[in-house]
Amino acid sequence: MTPVALTVNGRAVLANLEPRTSLADYLRDRENLTGTHLGCEHGVCGACTLLIDGVPARSCITLAAACAGAGVTTIEGLDEDEIAAELRDAFKREHALQCGYCTPGMIVSARDLVLRAPNDNEHEVRVAMSGNLCRCTGYVGIVKAIRSVIAARRARGIAPVPGAGRTALGPAGARPGAAALPLAAMPPAPRPAPAVATPAAAAPTDFTPQQVVQKSFSVPYPRNVVWAFFLDPAAVAACLPGASLTGAPDARNVAGKLRIKVGPIVADFHGAAVLDRDPASFTGSILGSGADSRSRSSARGKIGYRLAAEGPATTRVDVTIGYTLTGPLAQFGRSRLVDDIVDRLIAAFVANLKSALAAAADGSRHIAPTAAPVVLDAGNLILGAFAAQLKAFLRRVFTRI
Ligand code: FES
Ligand code: FES
Repeated sequence: MTPVALTVNGRAVLANLEPRTSLADYLRDRENLTGTHLGCEHGVCGACTLLIDGVPARSCITLAAACAGAGVTTIEGLDEDEIAAELRDAFKREHALQCGYCTPGMIVSARDLVLRAPNDNEHEVRVAMSGNLCRCTGYVGIVKAIRSVIAARRARGIAPVPGAGRTALGPAGARPGAAALPLAAMPPAPRPAPAVATPAAAAPTDFTPQQVVQKSFSVPYPRNVVWAFFLDPAAVAACLPGASLTGAPDARNVAGKLRIKVGPIVADFHGAAVLDRDPASFTGSILGSGADSRSRSSARGKIGYRLAAEGPATTRVDVTIGYTLTGPLAQFGRSRLVDDIVDRLIAAFVANLKSALAAAADGSRHIAPTAAPVVLDAGNLILGAFAAQLKAFLRRVFTRI
């Protein structure tokens, strides 16, 4: 897996990807940006066209890893774009689409042409759009729509932009320095590539999780003591079933792995996270992502926590866990059982946390390393959670009789 930091539609994202993953597959499967269509997957039809650093590119034949450090704009990212809006209106007016499969790629290519074409010469429009194929319309409406937008903009005194802002030649993603950010962060380790501390600038900043769980628990220790413990990522990881660090953490970055066992499936999620803490408000957050190459599953997560003093010697910890799972293991992330599983995970974490704090209070520096189970056995947790729900259900039924 390769950690890749890029910007998608103005949003910084960090993804752990197999190096062979195409940009189109990444956007469609991982970012749910399905407006990028796949037709030929050979770079011929143009259905997958999007913008990389403002320049149209075929996302089916562009490796996502080659876009490290680049800004990618899909058709969804052109919602507010003035030229794209004019093109959408013109396409409707001129009946420039039927099934619409080619339309996102057409709009992206046409937008680039509208930006740079000096006039609405039909031949030049046809030549410029020859890399986008449409199996339905016969192109007459498409060409009319694009010409009308070019003509209208030039009539309004909007001058063409020479080269449409291109500053370098060469295939998208091949520009010098584009891949430097994540590749420089990769350790020279063999497969499975351990995730490494990722530069803070590369971290996703506005990750919106699919699932959010909120929990609270209390521990019988003063807030300052618990806060000091939370400042140590290694100690916190030691309390979390299945979690371990894979590199020395620095002030903000940490690399680690989480081993999960679901029945016969064992997944090792390798990933990186960015830590933020605010001592003034006793709050913090962990934002990270990881992937398991065997199950081809990946996860992104965001944990926010807040420590509240319930008394001089008791601290309540409020935790918000947001996550998105993709790949085969995602089936275990949608069930209502997840809430129960998180309860059990937190119970294990709290038990380990209390042992660790007790050891620290005794003056021992050992953080009860044997207290945390080696593997988070989600199979057992699921069975346990299911049994708990079944018991609760039977209790409700029999107390009604
Ligand atoms: Fe990319 Fe056809 S799907 S060019
Ligand atoms: Fe159907 Fe173009 S509108 S492929």
